[in-house]
Amino acid sequence: MKIRKAVIPVAGLGTRFLPATKTVPKELLPIVDIPSIQYVVQEAVEAGIQEIIFVTGRGKDAIEDHFDEAPELEQILADRGHKEMVAMLRRIAEMTEVVSVRQKKPLGLGHAVLCARDLVGDEPFAVMLADDLIDAETPCIRQLVDIFTETQESVIALLEVPLEEVNQYGVIKGKELKSGLYQIEATVEKPAAKDAPSRMAIIGRYVLRPEIFAILQNLPAGRGGEIQLTDGLSRLVQERKIFGCEFLGDRYDIGDKFGFVRATVAYALKRPDLKDKVAEYLKILNR
Ligand code: UTP
Repeated sequence: MKIRKAVIPVAGLGTRFLPATKTVPKELLPIVDIPSIQYVVQEAVEAGIQEIIFVTGRGKDAIEDHFDEAPELEQILADRGHKEMVAMLRRIAEMTEVVSVRQKKPLGLGHAVLCARDLVGDEPFAVMLADDLIDAETPCIRQLVDIFTETQESVIALLEVPLEEVNQYGVIKGKELKSGLYQIEATVEKPAAKDAPSRMAIIGRYVLRPEIFAILQNLPAGRGGEIQLTDGLSRLVQERKIFGCEFLGDRYDIGDKFGFVRATVAYALKRPDLKDKVAEYLKILNR
């Protein structure tokens, strides 16, 4: 089966970015001039995904608006002769089909994914977390979709992290089948370093079989009193295989302040209109 839909949960409060996130969803904070969520949606589109399902919360409507048409703005820009800007806005509005569902209370990532059940239906789907920005030649989610196409089993993105950071991630126990491809045996949410079964952390890209919904439906709250997707995966792996993909690409955790700054600098250094100036400025700062 083909992966046609991607669920992007955006219902979190974004407390690490207060006060910015008091009124602006963190997913709209720009990396230079492009809201970070646009990169994630673009990644899905490049992997052939046709429908984006946002799981939203209060105060997040502007995310959907970003992917909608803006006729008044387009008219003003057209009157002023800014054809390229109009074309850019049209490309964003025509990029993909967007639908949304509300998560009324932020009860956890597993719960957020469950909220998309009716919109996904009985088919495999992608989950993409907007906190993870991944710069890769082959879009990260495409790398996972390719494994799914071959195996028809769930696939999760993995990144080797330093031991002192395992307590910030879901971590896997698994065996490496071939370079970069793992078969998952168990998953643990945010283990202490001494209890971590490996240093392979789960990053925010997943391709999941629909069986996960029945599991999430019956899952008790886990760590932090939240319904954890990682706990759901622990149960799914008892029913069906789950593969892990150590993806190729650079990942930035933009839910974290330093990660956000790193991404801003790295993306600016890749932009033809900015790279020379930014590189020069970094040199000056270094002196
Ligand atoms: P985080 O744990 O980073 O939480 O959620 P957060 O609220 O976004 O940010 P901080 O920690 O307060 O700064 C990881 C992802 O899961 C989504 C978030 O939107 C984010 O993309 N999420 C989390 C939900 O959609 N609903 C939830 O109940 C929890």
